[in-house]
Amino acid sequence: MRPLEFEKAIRRIHTLAELHVRLYRDVGFDSIDMAAYLKDICDGLRGAILSQPRVELECISSPVRLSVDQAVPVGLIMNELATNAVKYAFPGGGPGKVVVRLEVDQDHTVLSVTDNGIGLEAGGKASSGIGLTMAKGLAGQIGGMLAVNCDGGTSFILKFKADRQLESLR
Ligand SMILES: Nc1ncnc2c1ncn2[C@@H]1O[C@H](COP(=O)(O)OP(=O)(O)OP(=O)(O)O)[C@@H](O)[C@H]1O
Ligand SMILES: [Mg+2]
Repeated sequence: MRPLEFEKAIRRIHTLAELHVRLYRDVGFDSIDMAAYLKDICDGLRGAILSQPRVELECISSPVRLSVDQAVPVGLIMNELATNAVKYAFPGGGPGKVVVRLEVDQDHTVLSVTDNGIGLEAGGKASSGIGLTMAKGLAGQIGGMLAVNCDGGTSFILKFKADRQLESLR
């Protein structure tokens, strides 16, 4: 394994490890506070962005709780999309901005990862890596749809229905 791939594998494992720390900190073990979870992942990514000091990563989340079955895939998807944005959207090193947002839109939960960079097409072979393949597979696993919008940068939008039993917790 090349050093970069090794680092990526570690990042993916770290995302899961962070979830477990949060799981045991949370009061009910059956649901996850997504605002805190996504913030943890972004904090970890910021540490890895040091080579891109002019790329800002912002995380904005509504107070959403998800089942563990949905929280894990959502965290992994966010990790892949935000890593890609930081890595490819600003080949000149920025300045640039990546915004991770989680909100509830009527009966759907929406995660978006938006950057104001060069755009997916300009980034080259758009969809051949492990990251986007994994993100699409995980989106399907939670019954969601992953769409992309390339209007002045790149915006990935994941839309899914939160598991029923948690609705009373909101
Ligand atoms: N936000 C983005 N801006 C510009 N190009 C992007 C962006 N996200 C993805 N891309 C392009 O899409 C390609 C595929 O991304 P994907 O995550 O599937 O693979 P990868 O990042 O190259 O490899 P891996 O995820 O396995 O580390 C990237 O190589 C890059 O060219
Ligand atoms: Mg990737």
